[in-house]
Amino acid sequence: MSSIVVIGSVNIDIVARVSRLPAPGETVTGAELSRFPGGKGANQALAARRLGADVQLIARVGDDAAAEEALSLLREGGVDLSECHRIASATTGTALIAVAPSGENHIVVAPGANRMFVADDLQMPDADALICQLEVPVPVIVRAAEAFGGFFCVNLAPAAEIDVRVLQRADLVVVNETESSWYGDSLAACNGLVATTRGAGMATLERNGHLIAETRPPAVAAVDTTGAGDTFTAALTLALVEGRAPLEALKFACAAGAVATMTMGAQPSLPDRASVSEWL
Ligand code: RIB
Repeated sequence: MSSIVVIGSVNIDIVARVSRLPAPGETVTGAELSRFPGGKGANQALAARRLGADVQLIARVGDDAAAEEALSLLREGGVDLSECHRIASATTGTALIAVAPSGENHIVVAPGANRMFVADDLQMPDADALICQLEVPVPVIVRAAEAFGGFFCVNLAPAAEIDVRVLQRADLVVVNETESSWYGDSLAACNGLVATTRGAGMATLERNGHLIAETRPPAVAAVDTTGAGDTFTAALTLALVEGRAPLEALKFACAAGAVATMTMGAQPSLPDRASVSEWL
C-alpha cells in the first residue's frame, strides 16, 4: 500500500445551497444551510485514504468544539491524525461556501488555526509521497519540501505568492485554469509535471511546456464541485506513485474528481476506488 503524508488545512464548511450565486453587493435569500468537514488538506488526505493509500495528515486545529467535528470523517476513515494538534485560544478554520444548482461555488475562508502553523514545529515523517496546498503558511511548505525525500506534489490552491524553491522541487504541481492564469509564466520554474484542470473541460499534464497527456473528465450530473480539485490532486499523486503511466493516471484523477461532484459536501462526496473504476 502506498503511503502519503498531507500537510494542510482543516476547516468546517458552512454551506448554503442557493438558487444562484450572488453578484457583488447582492443578497440572495432562500438558501438551505448545512455543515460538512472540509479544508483542502483534510479533503486531500481523506480522498487519498478512500482511494487506498495509507495516509497521515499534519495540520493545526483550534481549541474549540468545531475541531472534533472537522476531524470526524478523517478519524472514521482511518487517517492518522497523531500530528493534528490543537492550538490554544485559536478557532478551527471555517469556510463559508455558496453552492448553485449547477454545482459551481463561491468560497470564503477564515483560516483560524491553519494560519498559526509554525514551520519550526514540523516533524517530517517518511512516506512515498507528500501533498501540500496553500491554506497553511508558505514557510511550512518550504520546510516540508526541503526536508522530504519522496514524491512531492503541491496543489497551488488557493492562488497565492509561492517560494520558487517549492516549484523547483515539486515532482507534480496541480492548478485549475483560474490558478494557472494567476501564476502565468512563473509556472515555467516547475521542473516536474504540471497538471491543469478545467472543470468539465480538458485536463492536461505537461512537463517544461510540453504536453504529456490530456483527457476529459467523464460527464456526470454535478451537484457540488467543492472538493473536486482536492480529489483530483490526491488521485493523481496516488496513481503516479503507484507507477501508472501519465495518461492512465490523469484519467483516474479526472474520474475521481468528477465523481466527487455528484454528492453535496466536500468530504461526504469523496469516492472510493471501486466507484472511480466504474467511471473509467
Ligand atoms: O477545496 C475545497 C475546500 O476549500 C473546502 O472544503 C473549503 O474548506 C476550502 O478550504
